[in-house]
Amino acid sequence: MTYQVLARKWRPRTFQQMIGQEPILRMLTHALRNERLHHAYLFSGTRGVGKTTLARIFAKCLNCETGITDTPCGQCAHCTAIDAGRFLDLLEVDAASRTKVEDTRELLDNVHYQPTLGRYKIYLIDEVHMLSGHSFNALLKTLEEPPSYVKFLLATTEPKRLPITILSRCLQFNLKRVPIDEIAKHLQHICSAENIPFDAPALTLLSQAADGSVRDALSLLDQAIAYTGEKILLADTEAMLGSVSFETLLRLLQAIHANDGKQLLMEIENLEMHAVNFYQALDEILSILHQISLAQVIPDAPHLKDSIITLAKQFKPEDIQLYYQIALIGRRDLPYAPTPKQGFEMILLRMLSFRPVIIIKEEEKIIPPKAIEKPVTPSLNPRTWIDTLDKLALTGLAYALASNCTLLEISDTKVKLALAIQHEPMLNKKLTERIEQALVQYLNKPIKLEILVTSTVGETPVKKQKEEDKARQAKATEAIQNDDDVQKIMGIFDATLDLNSIKTI
Ligand SMILES: Nc1ncnc2c1ncn2[C@@H]1O[C@H](COP(=O)(O)OP(=O)(O)O)[C@@H](O)[C@H]1O
Ligand SMILES: [Mg+2]
Ligand SMILES: [Zn+2]
Repeated sequence: MTYQVLARKWRPRTFQQMIGQEPILRMLTHALRNERLHHAYLFSGTRGVGKTTLARIFAKCLNCETGITDTPCGQCAHCTAIDAGRFLDLLEVDAASRTKVEDTRELLDNVHYQPTLGRYKIYLIDEVHMLSGHSFNALLKTLEEPPSYVKFLLATTEPKRLPITILSRCLQFNLKRVPIDEIAKHLQHICSAENIPFDAPALTLLSQAADGSVRDALSLLDQAIAYTGEKILLADTEAMLGSVSFETLLRLLQAIHANDGKQLLMEIENLEMHAVNFYQALDEILSILHQISLAQVIPDAPHLKDSIITLAKQFKPEDIQLYYQIALIGRRDLPYAPTPKQGFEMILLRMLSFRPVIIIKEEEKIIPPKAIEKPVTPSLNPRTWIDTLDKLALTGLAYALASNCTLLEISDTKVKLALAIQHEPMLNKKLTERIEQALVQYLNKPIKLEILVTSTVGETPVKKQKEEDKARQAKATEAIQNDDDVQKIMGIFDATLDLNSIKTI
């Protein structure tokens, strides 16, 4: 008996047998039940997610002898003919092999003949983005005025390559990559039905490697069956995929945490001996870092392994963020490294070198001496005004007004402040009274306050503050520009410094 590949053997024949595309199936079911049918559908999505499968089931839905339905019988002459790929009114074309305009014309020439047997004449054009420009024009003419008995089902992995004129005439459905756990469940179901014993984690590993494509997952399962003999074991599957176990990768991160370069290099050597795929290993590390980060934010998030939670407690969140960046950029640059192993090693060593080495133990923390309280002898004169201002019981607008004043003169009974003319709108009686009260309280004697408006004033508290801020900003900018670590990071990430992002507090 010849072996039929699983992807073909397990091609779904009903909507219910499909996995991972529920929203689309719901919309199509709804349309079929209400017979609200469009004349052209476009199914887009990456390879192996069910575009062709879906289009064929939809063709049965439209032509089943039991009537237009979302649950075609699968028994009638039309259904069985469609399943067997020999239904006269389903014209299936692979545009990748028939790109020429003559082909499309030939195909569309008979569009004006009624369906031979079925309710609808269905054109299933796969990989439609491969058609030539002239072919698109020929197709477009038909799409503009299709006979009522014609339906177009187009499928493509690259909808962006379709002319907008075609796109705008189709109802588009984007099929999603199928989540790992759904694929894993599907593989388990198939293994059980085929009487193939398995380790569940091995099937999860295959599902991960399939990257959302059910077809790829089934091809990998075919390979695993051939590779592992009687039972699909995790270790065999790892060896087959050249992938690394979770535990091995955790040991790499533990070595980084322990600041143990020797151990780290030994572990990497070990990976090399097991012919590990370093690209995949790096992806796995990214995924582990992501999980650690999640555990740091939500410690009781579901599905977190204990080892992840332990690492989450050991590492600082900002270190994990940095490692993630390093791994992500390393992944981009890995193809340029002389060998994947060397590139991988450099990425992990970079993480090691960025590990903060200054660890202040609790008892070594320097406790600043308590500020020594000086008795405050109230002294107020034009020179000390700027410093005195903060000692006055002033807030809000009154404080703002006083901050824009200079002290002109002070006598036993009177204080005179000067306010620059551009700030005159701030001046009013209520605020003046509040400042006067604060001065009375501070000097502990009755005084009268007068605020004079002048064309210019000397250095006010506000002006001084602005100058100080400017100087501090300049100093901070200089310090950051000259900082060794910042320069290192800029070198590694090919980054520039955004001066506006430097904030002093
Ligand atoms: N959503 C899905 N549910 C179940 N099996 C699927 C799904 N998508 C793909 N498959 C499996 O992969 C095979 C190829 O699917 P196909 O519809 O030809 O993918 P596409 O046209 O998107 O490249 C199918 O025969 C089936 O075994
Ligand atoms: Mg296909
Ligand atoms: Zn039927």
